[in-house]
Amino acid sequence: MNRLANKVVVITGGNSGIGFAMAKLFVTEGAHVLIVGRRQAAVNAAVTELGDRAMGLTGDLADPSTHDRVASWVAERFGMLDIYIANAGVNTISRSDRVSLDEYETQFATNTRSVFFGVQKIASQLRDGGAILLTSSIASSKVFEGHAAYAGSKAAIEAFARSWALEFNERGIRVNVISPGPVDTPILSKLGIAAADRPAFETAVAGKIPLGRLGRADELAHAALFLVSDESSFVTGINLNVDGGMSLA
Ligand SMILES: NC(=O)c1ccc[n+]([C@@H]2O[C@H](COP(=O)([O-])OP(=O)(O)OC[C@H]3O[C@@H](n4cnc5c(N)ncnc54)[C@H](OP(=O)(O)O)[C@@H]3O)[C@@H](O)[C@H]2O)c1
Repeated sequence: MNRLANKVVVITGGNSGIGFAMAKLFVTEGAHVLIVGRRQAAVNAAVTELGDRAMGLTGDLADPSTHDRVASWVAERFGMLDIYIANAGVNTISRSDRVSLDEYETQFATNTRSVFFGVQKIASQLRDGGAILLTSSIASSKVFEGHAAYAGSKAAIEAFARSWALEFNERGIRVNVISPGPVDTPILSKLGIAAADRPAFETAVAGKIPLGRLGRADELAHAALFLVSDESSFVTGINLNVDGGMSLA
């Protein structure tokens, strides 16, 4: 299929997990993809696996200058872009009475501020008729223990998206959100779940998901493909839960 033939796409957090799955699928759909991540070696490895249509940029998205570098890169290589996906995110689990200032600031700098200024910095280079997609989480609306700061950081971007859907409307740019439930990606190990505890963790989580299992990154990528391609040409301002029904349970 060529649903993204020659489209230029930026995916933040494109070197790992859900973002990498999006990059893989989008390349097979004909897109040119720029992935942005923090770890140089991981970005390089991802680009090698993705092939000729992929390029990488390493930087901390919590640092506003990284967004300037992304914008310069797009200007130099392609002039304009068609699709911007703000997907990078971090999550730590702590009861609110134990959340440190540093933990709070890190989550809001990466999950929230970087989304706002990433979109602001790239907006003038987005082609009319393009698409913006933000990766939130069902944790923004469903209460999970120890997730208050993370939930707040994600709820804010859903509010951004609703405003942006109207603000970008005059240029025909659609703005949507996907909200994953638990998905099997490296973010789970970053939460500090030891490898030995992983099977028990997954069984416990799967028991709370009506479809009976964690999601796969490629399932999120297919939902993203729908929301950034012409297949969703009459869809803007939505938040699509891709969660095996967990938000209902
Ligand atoms: N997996 C889930 O269960 C789940 C559920 C709900 C929502 N989500 C959301 O889905 C998105 C993708 O998560 P994932 O599961 O694919 O996790 P992941 O595999 O850990 O990927 C996260 C990506 O974000 C990048 N990133 C994080 N902080 C960054 C920073 N300051 N600057 C640049 N890049 C940064 C990481 O880059 P490096 O690897 O180089 O650090 C990595 O590429 C996140 O927004 C997450 O909150 C995930």
